Amino acid sequence: MQVLEIADLMALARRRVPRMFFDYADSGAYTESTYRSNAADLGAIKLRQRVGRKLSGRSLQSTMLGQQVAMPVAIAPTGIAGMQRADGEILGARAAAAFGVPFTLSTMSVCSIEDVATHSKAPFWFQLYVMRDRGFVESLMQRAEAAGCPALMVTLDLQLVGQRHKDLRNGMATPPRLGLSTALQLASRPAWCFDMLRTRRHRLGNLVGHAKGADDLTSMAQWVASQFDLEFCWDDIAFIRERWKGKLILKGVLDAEDARLAAATGADAIVVSNHGGRQLDGAPSSISKLASIAEAVGDRIEVQVDGGITSGQDVFRALALGAKGAYIGRAFLYGLGALGEAGVTRALDIIASELDTTMALCGERSIADIGRHNLEGY
Ligand SMILES: Cc1cc2nc3c(=O)[nH]c(=O)nc-3n(C[C@H](O)[C@H](O)[C@H](O)COP(=O)(O)O)c2cc1C
Repeated sequence: MQVLEIADLMALARRRVPRMFFDYADSGAYTESTYRSNAADLGAIKLRQRVGRKLSGRSLQSTMLGQQVAMPVAIAPTGIAGMQRADGEILGARAAAAFGVPFTLSTMSVCSIEDVATHSKAPFWFQLYVMRDRGFVESLMQRAEAAGCPALMVTLDLQLVGQRHKDLRNGMATPPRLGLSTALQLASRPAWCFDMLRTRRHRLGNLVGHAKGADDLTSMAQWVASQFDLEFCWDDIAFIRERWKGKLILKGVLDAEDARLAAATGADAIVVSNHGGRQLDGAPSSISKLASIAEAVGDRIEVQVDGGITSGQDVFRALALGAKGAYIGRAFLYGLGALGEAGVTRALDIIASELDTTMALCGERSIADIGRHNLEGY
């Protein structure tokens, strides 16, 4: 099969990854309306075609958080990426490093912080869930610092979990249900199974040996479920800001009022995000909130975005509406599930090539020149 667009990687991943893990990526909370609108609202934004402009010497180079990037796209943190493909987080970090874009490792990764640091050359960013056990949170920050992570991304929109029906139907519950249906799902994907058998990385790597009583799949799931913190609030960001010397990113801001509060914490960036439609079903798409948030705080804090980005055209739309950079979640996971490290590289290549062509046909030669003037009706 010719891989020409992210949809092709998605189709390949569907064939290779057991249903429970493929669906885990391809799902949103409840009716999935927000998951769908992330993509639909991006697609509805029309680009302004320009002609007669010199287009040689184009460059996608830019910066995110002051870091030089080959294009203003980063890989979003995604839990258990190592279940889409054996050693998935290491493969993702390597592909991102070789391409020259940031990779963000989730707290809920299969490969641990230390493992990824050992097996990938470039520094990566670390995503933190603020759990009830603040001692564990502090130790995660220390581990990320020791591993050389230049940026910490604190996720704000998961104080409790929005239900995904597909996960419950597939046995991805707490604790996981490993019944006949799961066995059949795995048996129908032998290449995935063989790959998984040759790695020792099958658990939540950041928890093993660090979270008390969380050793096997069941106890880990229970530990995580017991750790969501309903008491978490803006004051807790001060606790983190005091302890984290590097760049601080706050992820999951979807409202201009919250964006102002986020900017006041001393964080360096926010990610306009609804967690890929996996949390508040019925929330607006992130792209529909981007412009108002960028207007409200863009002069004080770097504004980034994620949600539904599956093409270079989407990245261009995000930049035009005021984002300094965009993250890919599922586009990364599909590449990983489909072809491993080569698939992640392919996903990044596709997006870069589309972004370059889009930029040119809109009459621009550099990322810094992209703005609202490139959109129809803005
Ligand atoms: C399977 C999956 C797992 C995710 N796990 C995490 C996570 O552990 N931490 C986090 O902050 N966000 C997580 N997210 C949200 C992503 O970081 C990001 O916000 C979202 O995927 C962006 O939307 P997109 O997938 O449409 O690109 C996850 C998303 C997916 C699809």
